[in-house]
Amino acid sequence: MAVIKYTEKVIEHFKNPRNVGEIENPDGKATVGSPACGDQVSVFLNVEDGKISDIKFLSYGCASNIATGSIVTELSKGKTVEQAKALTWKDALEELGGLPPVKVHCSILAIDGLRAAIHDYEEKVLGIKHERIIDESYIIEELKHVIYPKTGENIIDAKLVKYLKYEDKEVYMEISFDETDVYKQNVLEEINEHLGEIKGVEKVDIKVVEY
Ligand code: FES
Repeated sequence: MAVIKYTEKVIEHFKNPRNVGEIENPDGKATVGSPACGDQVSVFLNVEDGKISDIKFLSYGCASNIATGSIVTELSKGKTVEQAKALTWKDALEELGGLPPVKVHCSILAIDGLRAAIHDYEEKVLGIKHERIIDESYIIEELKHVIYPKTGENIIDAKLVKYLKYEDKEVYMEISFDETDVYKQNVLEEINEHLGEIKGVEKVDIKVVEY
């Protein structure tokens, strides 16, 4: 079995994660799970004068998730809510010096946790109602959360999705794989899990094109 190699910074944050724990009565909190592996992360945060004054996390995931949870809390602490919302898993990855392709989804989980906790703060404290318009671009954004473990890119950037249509609450898509691709089933399951969670999607029809 291939050995997964991590950067020194990933190992350091895994061994000594920053900002681990819970905040009592936080302004925002969320627990999110990864469709890719079933692991979870909880994020708690407080906001003062529009800035994230405190943030903590609990990881029920792997070493990469603990390391990215640690770095994401470091990157967002002291930032304005808008700056924290703009952080991406690529920022976390860059800060850690990268992750092996099969582990990129772990960093997405950490960023999703941060965004969900901010979302909770905005709804609970600011009273903002988040209206979600479901359209093709929304579906594409969601599919960018599905990582192709072979390259560590999302399936849109990896150009696996050849055609996509969203109409009458149905998603129809065509996706292509090399016929020997061992990640095919894993990617298809993840697509179904991601799209299945969207309220405006009642049916997902995926045509697999092998070459
Ligand atoms: Fe599940 Fe990393 S978070 S494998």
